[in-house]
Amino acid sequence: MAMQTIEELFEHELKDMYSAEHMLLGALEQMADESSDREIKKTFVQHRKETQGQIKRLEKIFKTLGQKPEAETCHGIEGLLKEKKTFLKERPSDELVEFFNIGAGQKTERYEIASYEGLIDMADKLGMTDAVELLEQNLQEEEAALNKLKMIASEFDVTEEGEEEGEGRTTSSRR
Ligand SMILES: [Fe+2]
Ligand SMILES: [Fe+2]
Repeated sequence: MAMQTIEELFEHELKDMYSAEHMLLGALEQMADESSDREIKKTFVQHRKETQGQIKRLEKIFKTLGQKPEAETCHGIEGLLKEKKTFLKERPSDELVEFFNIGAGQKTERYEIASYEGLIDMADKLGMTDAVELLEQNLQEEEAALNKLKMIASEFDVTEEGEEEGEGRTTSSRR
C-alpha cells in the first residue's frame, strides 16, 4: 500500500539512519586508520564509539514502535563514500587523504544533523517523547563531532613541497 502517514515516513527515515550509522562505523574506522595525527585519529575513534551508542538508541526507538531494527540503504551516505573512492583513484598523498577525511567527516556530520533534526521534528509531531529524547542525544553528538572537525580543519597546516615538516599536521603535497 502507498505510504500516507508521517508515522510511516518517520519509520522510513529511521531505517535510513540505521543504515547510515552502520556504514559510518566502517568509514570512521578507515579514517582513523588513515590518520597519522594523534588528535585526528582520536576524534574518529571516539566518534566511532559514539556511533555504536547511536545505533543502540535507534534500536530502542524501533522497540518503542514494536518493530525489529531494520536498515534501508542510505543513498546520501553511500554517495559520500563513493566520493571518497573517486578521490582515492587520484592517488593522493597520505597527508591529503587525512585532510580530505576531515572535510568528508564534516559533510557526513551535516548530513546526519539534518536527518536527526527532521526525525526529531516528526517524532515531536507524533508525540513520541521518548524517541525525541533519544534522537536529541544523537543530534548533540553529531553537532559536537562537527565542531571538533571544524576546529581540526582550521588548525591543519599546509606546507609547500620540500619544506621541512615541523611537528603537528602538515601536508607536503601541494603542486
Ligand atoms: Fe551518527
Ligand atoms: Fe556522526
